[in-house]
Amino acid sequence: MGYGELIIRSYDPQYDRTRVEDFERKCEVGPAKRVFLFTDTLGDPICRIRNSPIYKMLVAELGNQLVGVIQGSIKLVTVHKPPNDLAKVGYILGLRVSSLYRRRGIGSSLVIKLEEWFIANDVDYAYMATEKDNKASVKLFVDRLSYVKFQTPTILVNPVSHRMSRISSNVELAKLKVEEAEAIYRKFMSSTEFFPIDIGNILRNKLSLGTWAAYPRGESWSGVPSSWAMLSVWNSGELFKLRLGNAPLSCLMYTKSSRLIEKLVPCVKLPCIPDFFRPFGFYFIYGVYREGPLSGKLVRTLCRFVHNMASKSKDCKVIVTEVGGSDTSRLHIPHWKSLSCPEDLWCIKALKNEKKNSLHELTKTPPTRALFVDPREV
Ligand SMILES: CC(C)(COP(=O)(O)OP(=O)(O)OC[C@H]1O[C@@H](n2cnc3c(N)ncnc32)[C@H](O)[C@@H]1OP(=O)(O)O)[C@@H](O)C(=O)NCCC(=O)NCCS
Repeated sequence: MGYGELIIRSYDPQYDRTRVEDFERKCEVGPAKRVFLFTDTLGDPICRIRNSPIYKMLVAELGNQLVGVIQGSIKLVTVHKPPNDLAKVGYILGLRVSSLYRRRGIGSSLVIKLEEWFIANDVDYAYMATEKDNKASVKLFVDRLSYVKFQTPTILVNPVSHRMSRISSNVELAKLKVEEAEAIYRKFMSSTEFFPIDIGNILRNKLSLGTWAAYPRGESWSGVPSSWAMLSVWNSGELFKLRLGNAPLSCLMYTKSSRLIEKLVPCVKLPCIPDFFRPFGFYFIYGVYREGPLSGKLVRTLCRFVHNMASKSKDCKVIVTEVGGSDTSRLHIPHWKSLSCPEDLWCIKALKNEKKNSLHELTKTPPTRALFVDPREV
């Protein structure tokens, strides 16, 4: 390569923490031209994987210089059809290569090293998520490393305003105990794609703010209401902060003018964009499930409730939800199109020979209605 030997090794918090933070700060998340989001990991570069059962971060060095990073986590999930079975999956995230050293095989080498770690841990499938239009990432994983397109979930982003949303008086809201939430998720969602077997650990994690259910007022929760919906909330802002950079001028102008108008005329119904240029936190809504003819409205009410909760928090500026591409719940989840991503792309690869056939079946099967997006992988 002409720059010394490429060394890929495990992240060492004592030696690498500041260097990786600095490296991350210079790298944008996502390739979209319209908005760049920077992450601030608050002094803990592995905060995004720390809550997973098993995790690893690798760093790539050329000479003494840090030129790339990658992270991975492993868990046991339901792989729905076929076979209706459990699988050990390895999630790849946070792959970054310094822009000065791209197209020299460093990204591929990092992924291959992480796959070796997955294989050593008996992982059946490796998977990753990227924006559909991230050409470099799609080419690297699909063309070069034989990953196949698997799911296209939708990421919905809704800004938090300090104006409270109206909650319908016809809807009853109830906070569920962790044990009850776990039992309901196991009963209704355990056959959905990628349902994590350690759901109890997620719900019990201190970042999980709770699980709420909604049903029509006048009906009883214990008597199974005619329509119901539930969701859980994860406080991602406790782990890392986001900050907007390079926003188009129109976005900046809108931020300023809408705040001004809100100050001057409080009753003007113009949604106010929060100040995204300073580091902010966000809530992640996960485990959205609904049943019954009124359940769409109930999901909307739950989202409004979460919005009101967020508007009272110190630094939560957006609410993010990710649902399966064919999940019609997205029609009821408030979001701004300009901030959302209609097709996130998930790609997968079988790491064991005997899993190759089932992977073929898995990726040819139409996606199930609901997909469980693990908040630990945001
Ligand atoms: C995506 C990324 C990690 C690739 O790293 P890299 O070290 O340049 O990748 P490699 O050199 O191993 O590329 C391997 C192959 O991937 C494809 N590829 C990589 N970058 C590409 C690009 N910009 N355009 C088209 N193809 C690309 C090519 O097929 C390449 O092989 P080639 O150079 O022989 O043609 C790097 O561009 C990056 O850090 N991007 C910003 C962060 C990001 O988007 N991360 C991905 C999130 S999942």
